[in-house]
Amino acid sequence: MRSVQRSRREIRGMRGWHVAALAALTALTAVVSLAWPAAAQAQATGSGEEEGGYVWNATQGEKLQALAAQGDATRGEISFEVCQGCHRRGALGRVDGTYPRLAGQHRSVLIKQMTDVRAGRRRNDTMLPFADKHVIGPQDIADIAVYLSQLPVPANNGKGPGGDLAGAEQLYRFQCADCHGERGEGDAVRFYPRVNGQHYRYLLHEMIAIRDGSRGNAYPKMVEIVKPLANAQLDALADYMSRLPSGPTR
Ligand code: HEC
Ligand code: HEC
Repeated sequence: MRSVQRSRREIRGMRGWHVAALAALTALTAVVSLAWPAAAQAQATGSGEEEGGYVWNATQGEKLQALAAQGDATRGEISFEVCQGCHRRGALGRVDGTYPRLAGQHRSVLIKQMTDVRAGRRRNDTMLPFADKHVIGPQDIADIAVYLSQLPVPANNGKGPGGDLAGAEQLYRFQCADCHGERGEGDAVRFYPRVNGQHYRYLLHEMIAIRDGSRGNAYPKMVEIVKPLANAQLDALADYMSRLPSGPTR
């Protein structure tokens, strides 16, 4: 992977160029929205998806810039170095779920989550100092997202205790698969996260945060579905999802 040994100075020089490119992009925002698939636009700006005055996925500002930017995986690998202390090499995360696996996640999802954290819509005080606006810009986000989305997802993620997998499968197919996919592959166009290959404890932690309202950027339609579910049901669902086969999604 050390073809990445392009010098940091060279990368910094390239950043100067990208600042100019980004300024041009901002001016082109109206045009650029045509480039993003219509379905994503519809999801992003659709009516009836507001919660507490926040449209769950308004694609404006730097989120739109990062989505429209041409990401470069080689630059992304270099920018990701600072993230590896927590997310680990190869973005495998930690089996205990303290840090999520980012490898193989959809580019759109990664961009949404990073820009939501930066805008305060998803609170993450641990990570913010490393991913804040004075550290990286929309072009870096685009680069990192492409790099991460192309990484392989080995099957050695953290699994649950295997208590009620049959019950969880039924529930998952009935209530979750429409959005997250039968195989947990998610949907890149609609910003639905891939959940296969993810650590069980992280999945559980996020579902509880989404149900109980502490994940501010959650999707209101999903919140409705998980609200009535008990901890034991969420536990079994996280376990089931962590065992879905994590092969290529595209
Ligand atoms: C100090 C530790 C730390 C560092 C450094 C860090 N992160 Fe994170 N990151 C976290 C934690 C913890 C979470 C999960 C927060 C939660 O539970 O919601 C997270 C979540 C994320 C998510 C959301 C994943 C998902 O499934 O929704 C993305 C994307 C992400 N980080 C990208 C990055 C990038 C890119 C960098 C480097 C620029 C970075 N992180 C640096 C701790 C860190
Ligand atoms: C209507 C579509 C929809 C349905 C149905 C749905 N979800 Fe989600 N889910 C989403 C979206 C969108 C997100 C990401 C929200 C955001 O951007 O922060 C998400 C996030 C998640 C996450 C966090 C993933 C991560 O990487 O951080 C988990 C875990 C999850 N959903 C599990 C479930 C389970 C289990 C069910 C069924 C009980 C379910 N979802 C039903 C749309 C849905």
